[in-house]
This record gives sequence, structure tokens and C-alpha cells, in this order.
Amino acid sequence: MPHPPAPLADALVQTGRPARVEGRHVNLPIELGSTMVFDSLAAFEAARDARYDSGTLYYGRYGNTAVFELEQALAELEQAAGVTLTSSGVAAISLTLMTFVRPGAHLLVADHVYGNTRAFCDGVLARMGVETEYFDPMIGASIAGLIRDTTCAVMFEAPGSGTFEVPDIPAIAGAARAAGVPSVLDGTWATPVNCRALRLGVDVVVASLSKYLSGHSDCMMGMIASTTAHARDIRKTVMEVGDKTGGQEVFLALRGLRTLKLRMAHFDAAGREMAAWLAAQPQVKRVLHPAFPDCPGHEHWKRDFTGAAGLFAVVFHPCSDAQIAAFVDALHHFGIGVSWGGYESLVLPVTPQRSAGTWAEDGQLVRFNIGLEETASLKADLAAALPLLNPASE
Ligand SMILES: Cc1ncc(COP(=O)(O)O)c(C=O)c1O
Repeated sequence: MPHPPAPLADALVQTGRPARVEGRHVNLPIELGSTMVFDSLAAFEAARDARYDSGTLYYGRYGNTAVFELEQALAELEQAAGVTLTSSGVAAISLTLMTFVRPGAHLLVADHVYGNTRAFCDGVLARMGVETEYFDPMIGASIAGLIRDTTCAVMFEAPGSGTFEVPDIPAIAGAARAAGVPSVLDGTWATPVNCRALRLGVDVVVASLSKYLSGHSDCMMGMIASTTAHARDIRKTVMEVGDKTGGQEVFLALRGLRTLKLRMAHFDAAGREMAAWLAAQPQVKRVLHPAFPDCPGHEHWKRDFTGAAGLFAVVFHPCSDAQIAAFVDALHHFGIGVSWGGYESLVLPVTPQRSAGTWAEDGQLVRFNIGLEETASLKADLAAALPLLNPASE
């Protein structure tokens, strides 16, 4: 059973730390190691039999003290029955889906998911004989009409990568559960600071901890948080495949956890300020940000989230690819790169992939990750580069 919820700020500071010992360090040390040894064969055999349980020290690949502390901290924050760490967010997604699929199975995936989720479904899963059907992320409870006898899972994201539509999480998760199909939500954008999706009826929350949770662009890690019904099967898949997190990364993620709430508050305020400023620029056709009333699913965001992240997108009025490249290249504070959620601002032109529908917006989509820099500096940087998108600048 999940623990009763502690106030979020308290949990961020208190969880994932060693038990009371006089003269202890504030933080756990970086824990490295493969083999663990036992004083008796009986103790070894007991550990081997319980090796799939978070908390059992058996062999490095199954986790160590620091891994288990972080898993327990995340279980408390997500209100999950179990959390398993993975080596990346992509590993969290693929290993969760691998737990549920069978040859000949049907998988429902929201059309706006992260590109690598789509690549995994269309690549590895297709080769394993799994049929992926993409659905309109705004489908809501009508997802029930797409569920077949062979449907093994419903995978979605809130908001969508790059285009930021916010699905109706309880409606989709509720319809899936009513049909006996597990729902999987990529909750990377929100973090447990802004949405605890298991409480909304989702069965499994996956996230890239490489983003906001570790928060400093120096760590790759993923997380799978789930209800009692799925926690053990998922953990077994992760262990059987042999995925594991490194000691240094666990140390960095635990450190990032301590400041997550503060950083998310900054990203929320700065992201909204930057999005509003961009919306007022003549080169901007539209801003895609869940906190803005014209964002598809804004009402779901208002109902189910307690805040926003600092990642959003802008649709610029139609211009050439060369103009977009010149604009992006001219920015000083915004690095050009994938990923997000670190302390630094980033920019990336995005081409949405769609198969259930089409991306109808006329204009160029560019994604911004707002970091911890002064918003005045970011605005000045953008103001200097935006004229490169004007028709006359070609
Ligand atoms: C929404 C989303 N989920 C998952 C991932 C994958 O995470 P990782 O890079 O840790 O594998 C990403 C990465 O960009 C992402 O944007």
C-alpha cells in the first residue's frame, strides 16, 4: 500500500536519506559495486529468492542501498506501490511496454508521444509482432471504442512532446481500466511536483529523470512507478533484461530531488512569462503552452495539474528553413540540443510526427526550454534574433 502523502516539500527533503545514525553525512555516498557477499549460504539464498524486491541486497544489477532509497523516495512522491529505476527515460518506456506486449497484441499509443516511444513501437515492437495503433490524444473516454480483445496497453503523454496538447488523463485511464487494460503515462513534463497521475487512475507512470528531476544535464536515468497490480511484473522485466542505473547517477538524482520544487516553481513562472512575451511578438503565430487558454486540453491541465513546466513551443508565421536556422543560430542564451529540464535554456525546431491525424498548423514549430537565466536576458536575446524571421530578411 502507498504511504499516506507527506507534504511535498517535506518529502523532497526527507525521503531517500539514510536512517538515523549519529555523525552521519547528510547525503548517501556514491555507491559503486557488482558482487555482494554474505556470511552464510542461507543468507545468500534468502537474498537470491527475494532479489526482485526493492530493498533486497543481492547483486549490483538488482540495486544497492542508494538505488532503493531513491526508489522509495519516488514511490512516496508518486504515491506508487512500487518504483523501479532504469538507465534512461527511453528504457523506462520500452521496458514497461515490453512487460505488457505479446506477439499478436494490439497497443494503443497517443499520436503526440515522444519520438523515441514511436520509434520503439514502430521498430522493436513491430518486429515482435505487436500492432501499434495511434490515437488522437484528445480522444478522452472514447478511447473505449478503440480497445480490442487483444489490446495490451494504452500509452500516452501529458502534455504531448513538442505540441503540448493535454489529454484527459482520468477519462483515458478510466476507460482503459474498465476494459482491464493497463494505462501508461509519460509524466516527464509534470514531475510529481505538478501531477501525481497514479492518483488520477493511471496504472503506470514512466518518466525521464534525466530532465527535471536530476535537473542539471549531467545524468541519464528513468523511472517506472506503478500500482500493486503491475509493480512486480515490471520490475522483473527490468531485471531480466539487465537494465541498471549507475551509482554516480543515483547520487546526482538524489541531489536534484532536493531542489526540484524550487526549480519547478521558477520554471513555471519564467516559462509563462517567456511564453506570454513571445505571444506578443509579430513573428509569432501561436504559443503552445498548457497554461494558456487556447492550448488544446488547457481545461484538463487546470483540473489535473498544480503548475506548469518551463518547456513549451511556439508556432512562427510561415518562413523558410534557412530563416529558422539563422534565428536559432543567432541566440546566445539558448543552446541547440535535445532534452530539457536542466538549468540552462534550450531551443529546438520540431517537426511533429503524426499518423492518426495530421499536424494542421501552418508555420514553423520551435520548442523552448526555459532555464534559470534572467528572463530579461532571454527576452533581449530573442528580441535581437526575431527580426531574422521577418519576410524581408530572406
Ligand atoms: C517526454 C519524454 N519522455 C522520455 C524521454 C526519454 O528520456 P531519456 O533521454 O532519459 O531517455 C524524453 C527525452 O527527451 C522525453 O522528452
